[in-house]
Parts: sequence; C-alpha cells; structure tokens
Amino acid sequence: MIYLDNAATSHPKPKSVYKAVCEALYRGGSAGRGGYKEAIIASSVMYECREKIAQLFNIPSPDRIAFTKNTTEAINMALKGILKGEGLVISHMEHNSVYRPSMKYYREGNEVLIANADKFGYLDFESLEESILSTTKLVCINHVSNVCGSVNDIRRACKIAHKKGAITMVDAAQSAGIIPIDVIKDEIDILVFPGHKGLLGPVGTGGIYIKEGIEFDTIMEGGTGSESESAYMPELMPDRLEYGTQNVVGIAGLLEGVKYILENGEKISGHERELTKKLLENLSVIPNVHIVGNPSTENRVGVVSVYFSHKDVVEVANALADEGICTRAGLHCAVLAHEALGTLKSGTLRFSVGFSNTKEEIDEVSWKLQKILTS
Ligand code: ALA
Repeated sequence: MIYLDNAATSHPKPKSVYKAVCEALYRGGSAGRGGYKEAIIASSVMYECREKIAQLFNIPSPDRIAFTKNTTEAINMALKGILKGEGLVISHMEHNSVYRPSMKYYREGNEVLIANADKFGYLDFESLEESILSTTKLVCINHVSNVCGSVNDIRRACKIAHKKGAITMVDAAQSAGIIPIDVIKDEIDILVFPGHKGLLGPVGTGGIYIKEGIEFDTIMEGGTGSESESAYMPELMPDRLEYGTQNVVGIAGLLEGVKYILENGEKISGHERELTKKLLENLSVIPNVHIVGNPSTENRVGVVSVYFSHKDVVEVANALADEGICTRAGLHCAVLAHEALGTLKSGTLRFSVGFSNTKEEIDEVSWKLQKILTS
C-alpha cells in the first residue's frame, strides 16, 4: 500500500504510539476517577500530554487545554460556547466543521460574514478587515486548507482581528504538528486541533486551547471527577470542557505522537517539503492534469489537489485504490473552499504526504496516475 491520505488521518504512526495505546488498554484505569495505581497513571499520562502540547504551541498553562474527540467537537465547543448572538466572521477556506455550525448560527438570525479567499486558497486580508464589524465577537481562520494545502498568515489575520476588538480562533486541523504554531506570537485566543493528523496520535483524539480570561459556556455537561457535590460544571479548565470518561487510551498514544513531533518535527517538515516538490513537479508534466491552488512549494504543505480534463476524480481515485494507492476524491467536506478554488463542479483528487512516504513512492504514484489517465 502507498498511503497518501494523511490529511484525513496520518498513517502509519510512530511505533511508540502503537505501543503506548496497547499498554494503556491493557493497564486500564480511568483518569481522575480513582486513587489506585492504574487510575493515577491514567491521570498523569493526560497531564503529561497536556504539558507536551503546551510546549509545542507555546501555551502558557497546560490546564487551558482540554481534550476532545476531534477538531469538529472542539470547534462546536468554541462557537456555541462563546457566541450568544454577537457577530461571527469566518473565511472562505473553512471546512464544513466550521461552515455548518456557522450557518446554523446564521439561520438562527445571527450575523455571520465570510471573508474572501483568492484562487490559490489564500485569505484576502482587505476582505477580512472589512468583514470585522463593531458587532463581531469572534473571528475564525483556517490555518491550512485541507483541499489545496495553502498556508494562511494567521499572525496577520489575528492581529487584524485584535485591532478591531474581536477574539481570534484558529482551526489548526491541517497544521498542528506540521508547521510551527505559537499562540502568543500568533495572537491566537482559541486553538482547535486534531490529535490524529499531524500530531500522529490515534483517531478519536483532538483538543482545544482557550486563553485565560475568555468567557465561555459549556455545550455538554456531565461527570468530571471533580466538584461532584456541585449541580453545575466546574469553572476551572480543563474540567469545564472534559465531560465524561476520557479517552486515556487514545491520549496515551497522542502523548507519544507529540513527543515524536517535538523531537523530529523540523526533519519531518523538510522531508515533506521535498516530497511535495517532487509530487508537484511530476504532476505538472502529466497531460490533462490540473493542479489546484499554488503550484509552487511556497506557503503550502503537502496537501496537493488535482482534477482532470477528461476523467472523473472519483473514478481515478478508485483506479488508484485498485493499485493499492490511498487518496481521497470529492469535495473533502469543504464546499466553501472548493467554491473559492473554482472546483465545486469537478471536485478534486487529493494526495496528502506523511513522514513515512518516500520519493520512490511519489514516482510510482505519478507513473501509475499517468497510466490510468491514458487508459
Ligand atoms: N477533514 C479531513 C479531510 O480533509 C477528514 O480528509
């Protein structure tokens, strides 16, 4: 198998991730729910994972990070927990995980404005500035497109939002663990991220960081293992957002994924940049292939989308799957982004590289794609 669907979920994971998941599953114990050894280990694994994530994103206090089951859950917690009728601004490159809750909020009669993006998937900063009104409370920006890999200048976007008095939220679904994020320097008030993509953890893991001082309500309530005498969710983070039994098995794996990124992140980025360059070069000379978004390696990651003059993208993805090549085709749950990129009708076939891919694999995939397109 040649796996090029790392934007959906990364595969394979580092060996230490599989080992930690198995050990945690065998060990048992629920975090914050007991004084016996196994439960204490579960709590400390969760704490250590928070600390490592805080180190990676320069988050001042690990307690401000809550674990979620994915980025979508984190986005819903932020949008629904913070907005109480005030204005929301999103970008034209958002995934449905932001777009759909935003549109629900809009349908309920609230103000939602969408800042433009260009045909390469980059945010239009003038449009962003114009979209932020005196009524805007929250500005949500997609860091890296899951369709075309464009990297947005989140620091510039957050500075604009802050200048206009709004809270900033960054969707790091495709950037966490792939490119550096510094919540202080980038002026990020809320960061939402998956554990199972660039951070190399198992599926079912993700998280949210909310800066100290930002008021938010809960969207789920339940047991937290703390303040059990109270009828209400604790005010303190992370308990305020971590309802019910936590995914300690997944988080044990995530901890190892984050450690791996802390140790090897720069090396992986360099390797993925090389693979992306090769992939773009190979694709650019195959007849009838149209690269979507930025055709150069500048300001982009290894998420590369194409469509064809004469073949359907799903049909080609299926033919590649028959050859053992894993890609994703269609609209990638990102209708807004396809609208900005002009690919709403065709959809795209997406290749997304990971740390274990090789240049030989990229050549093999390119050659097989060319063969399928000429058959
Ligand atoms: N959002 C993920 C993707 O783009 C699942 O495939």
